[in-house]
Amino acid sequence: MTATGTPRVVLGYSGLDGSQECKTREFPGLSTPESRLFQGLDSAAALLVDGNLVAAVQQERFSGSKFDHRFPRDAIDYCLRSAGLDMADVQVVAHNFDYGRMAAFSQADAYSRLRYSSVYDPANQTRLLHANHPAAAGRLEVRPVNHHRAHALSAAVPSGFGEALVVVLDGMGELHAVTVHHWKDGELRRLAALDFRSSLGLLYGLTTLHLGFWPNSDEYKVMALAASGDPARFRPALRDAVVLEADGRFSVPLLGMNHDPRARETFSGSRQRLVDYGCPAQEPGRPPTPLQTDFAAAVQERVEEAFLHVVGHWVRQTGVARVALAGGVALNCVAVGRLCASGLVEEVYVQPAAGDEGTAVGAALAFAADPAAVRCPPMTFLGPDVDETPPPSATPYWHAPAAPVVAEGAAAALLAEGCVLGWAQGRLEFGPRALGNRSILADPRERGTRDRVNAAVKFREGFRPLAPAVKSESLHAWFDVPAAAQLRHMTVTVPVRPECRDLIPAVVHDDGSARVQSVHADEVPGLWRILDGFERLTGVPVLMNTSLNVKGQPTARDGAEAYATFSSSQLDVVFIGGTVYAKPAWEQRVKDALAAAERPGAPAREAAGGR
Ligand SMILES: [Fe+2]
Repeated sequence: MTATGTPRVVLGYSGLDGSQECKTREFPGLSTPESRLFQGLDSAAALLVDGNLVAAVQQERFSGSKFDHRFPRDAIDYCLRSAGLDMADVQVVAHNFDYGRMAAFSQADAYSRLRYSSVYDPANQTRLLHANHPAAAGRLEVRPVNHHRAHALSAAVPSGFGEALVVVLDGMGELHAVTVHHWKDGELRRLAALDFRSSLGLLYGLTTLHLGFWPNSDEYKVMALAASGDPARFRPALRDAVVLEADGRFSVPLLGMNHDPRARETFSGSRQRLVDYGCPAQEPGRPPTPLQTDFAAAVQERVEEAFLHVVGHWVRQTGVARVALAGGVALNCVAVGRLCASGLVEEVYVQPAAGDEGTAVGAALAFAADPAAVRCPPMTFLGPDVDETPPPSATPYWHAPAAPVVAEGAAAALLAEGCVLGWAQGRLEFGPRALGNRSILADPRERGTRDRVNAAVKFREGFRPLAPAVKSESLHAWFDVPAAAQLRHMTVTVPVRPECRDLIPAVVHDDGSARVQSVHADEVPGLWRILDGFERLTGVPVLMNTSLNVKGQPTARDGAEAYATFSSSQLDVVFIGGTVYAKPAWEQRVKDALAAAERPGAPAREAAGGR
């Protein structure tokens, strides 16, 4: 503690260990997708030291289990280790749920009572902390934080806005699914709250389940699918399912059709209603039909309408037109793009870790003496360094050292020749997006590149778009960007300028849009210099940028995992820290590119100021 009693070291974490296990034990026979509808995913840890956010990482990056909900022991260990601290140095441990105040709502039936006592009761968190970190036993009790307050702080503080509306939309917290807050001078005041019967997150989750995908995981696939559909066919049904009301409120009557515990855990009543609307369920793993694609488009359209309805009301009501967003629905980058283009708002900040992993940060912020004074870095590079676990020393692949500027110049040249390469440098990104430290990069000029990356590297569905990264200086020449949009974190979908679409077809979605990352030289210098080198060679300051992982795996954590991704996929080349590895077909071209990048006057050297 400081002399004023302010905690110097605050650890926040997210996740509800045992939550899924409780559900599957009590409801045998659930399908795998049904078993994924539970509270407490996205375990993560975040660390504040002396008013600085110094580390944050998801547990999935250690366990390999995507969206892992178990106690984030490894993530906590990493955060402390990276700061040169251990548990004995921690003064406050904060958790991203506060079910203690909600105990009365957890007694409705035998299953709810069991779930409360074995999972939701905050006492379980202290028990888990002590079991996993014995140094905390007898000294630290876990401090619960209201879930939406954690989300709201996670957006308000790093937004940098002195005053803002903070809107949280998710599946649900302890009770609420939508909250609106006024943020000013470090104080967060709640203006409105809608409970789980108004949950756009649950609506999207059950749609995801109905269309054959995994809920709490694949919602972004439904959003991608929606761009290819026609919402008109199911528009009347969605007006029945989601009702807009006065004062920025709305309700989702579709969610009120599950009348016993099993139905509530599987949304079987709601899903029957979707069948009644005329949209049959899809088998998991089978591609959606055109009719189901139209249904996805109608859900997306209605979610956007409800989203704008609540934000628009509170902007008009308060006169505050800067908006900070968090909660899983804030990851709906198409809806955020529509808000930015609506004329309703001046500026929009989306917490890049808008899902529940971000509430690890928010829980810690709840115990900062002055949250507004906490310094958060502009980018999300808060996880393990690439050197934390290096690649294996024995490798069958050709490899060579490559200093940063040479590596960047060679990467640009290889990309211009059609290489699909991995780029793993520095610290891991926190949140779902790779922003230039754990990326797969490729040439966007041929549509076939997208299909190749999807089929051979990412092993994923062809309808899913891949995103572009662009030099910030060239952003407006290539993309039609509303003034309200902040694009450094890849959280907003915007139109590609019509005259540019044919130049970068691999990263343009069916509707002419793209979820673009604007890359600033002072924020992501390595990726910026690759983009600059690529532009000097091709005239195009844009690259495809997707996360360095294969389907079903979390993004590569460190050098060892980046190497494993390279060796288990059809990536041509990977740059890991100061070493480049190449598959046989690319070996000679990598040698040539490195030699060219070594020469004085090479493009990346020029971009780096002749270094
Ligand atoms: Fe949440």
